[in-house]
Amino acid sequence: MTTPSPLPSQTFASWLEDTNDITKAFLAAGQIPGLINIAGGLPDPQVYPAAQIADIAARAVTDFPAETLGYGPLDGLPELRAVIAQQYSSDHVQLTPENVLITTSGMQGLDLLGKVLLDEGDIVAGQFPTYLGALDAWRPRKPSFRQLLLQSNALDFVETMRGAKFAYTVPNFSNPTGRLVPESTRRALVEAAAETGTWLVEDDPYGGLNYDGPLPPRLLDLSADHPTPQPGPYDGPVIYLGTLSKLIAPGLRIGWIIAAPAMIQALILAKQGSDMCTSGLTQRMACEILKAGLIEQVNPSMLNLYRKRRDALCAALDKHLSPWFDWDVPEGGMFVWMTAKDKRLNTDDLFKIGLEELVCVSPSSVFDAEGRFTHGLRLNFTLNDESALDEAVRRLARATVRLLRG
Ligand SMILES: Cc1ncc(COP(=O)(O)O)c(C=O)c1O
Repeated sequence: MTTPSPLPSQTFASWLEDTNDITKAFLAAGQIPGLINIAGGLPDPQVYPAAQIADIAARAVTDFPAETLGYGPLDGLPELRAVIAQQYSSDHVQLTPENVLITTSGMQGLDLLGKVLLDEGDIVAGQFPTYLGALDAWRPRKPSFRQLLLQSNALDFVETMRGAKFAYTVPNFSNPTGRLVPESTRRALVEAAAETGTWLVEDDPYGGLNYDGPLPPRLLDLSADHPTPQPGPYDGPVIYLGTLSKLIAPGLRIGWIIAAPAMIQALILAKQGSDMCTSGLTQRMACEILKAGLIEQVNPSMLNLYRKRRDALCAALDKHLSPWFDWDVPEGGMFVWMTAKDKRLNTDDLFKIGLEELVCVSPSSVFDAEGRFTHGLRLNFTLNDESALDEAVRRLARATVRLLRG
């Protein structure tokens, strides 16, 4: 999907010439009447706990007017940092507020990491295929990407991680593949980080969307795997990114980074030049949301809704697309990842014919920094109901037949 930018190069920074036009295409697709969008990673708005959030917002402003309406500390609301440190402390890892930075959503966390770790030409060892937003966040830094293949049987990641500024992973129901990284692979990643001295990023928006059972331990916990918890602060190689976006509501734009204090201090310097502070209003709301256990309250109905939709999408794929594609049923998250049986089936082309058939999907090339992976597709199952998912897959099958007829 990479196209040369029409922007005049004397006006804009040079990295804009390397970007792709998929976001523009997605936005344009949103305007097509009757189109079914299974491209994005969007929650169904019906899962937002709107009434509870309205109540929390009103109380936040009334009870904390100076804090919610004024500028706040650069590193975040002290109480929110303390709540997050406490909620992520475990039998393995003891965290203090010094380990926590509040960010304006997970995306800002990715952006700040690029700012503090990457100079031009530096290497990122990125879980492949890679979340599009992470590629977008780091592209202005002009890094070079090395593929970290977590689904292979070879669990030796030392060679891939050596010399990289950081390794980037989404171990729980990855974007785009929906895959869950098993414990053995997680342990191997943590060992490779220790051996190579590489920072290990654990981006975790989807861990709470586990439809089929418990999760393996976090990299954060494994990297502090002491028989007894050491007194904080945590000082290991893992940089953990959390967000409220997929478990409560993305409009709050609240995320957090958990990392060694030295890393948090560097990130604070970058945040200073970025937005000075995250909204005091949404931070106070996040604090009350976490303390009240709202995530846990809404989670069961969210899982029921999304589990049914995942099953409906996979049933439709079985019916309509199995001659041409392979896929796994994801155990969690928001996506089904498909690969064409015949690698010559070009999903950039299928994306375009799909729009004509009124279905929008994500082609795999956008999850590859080089844009060369052109026989995969990412499908979302959380935004649309079962009948819309079935209709979307029928349309995609029609588009596939048209593509193959040439
Ligand atoms: C892997 C991954 N990381 C980070 C994000 C950023 O989410 P937000 O900025 O809404 O917290 C997303 C959103 O889709 C994602 O899929």
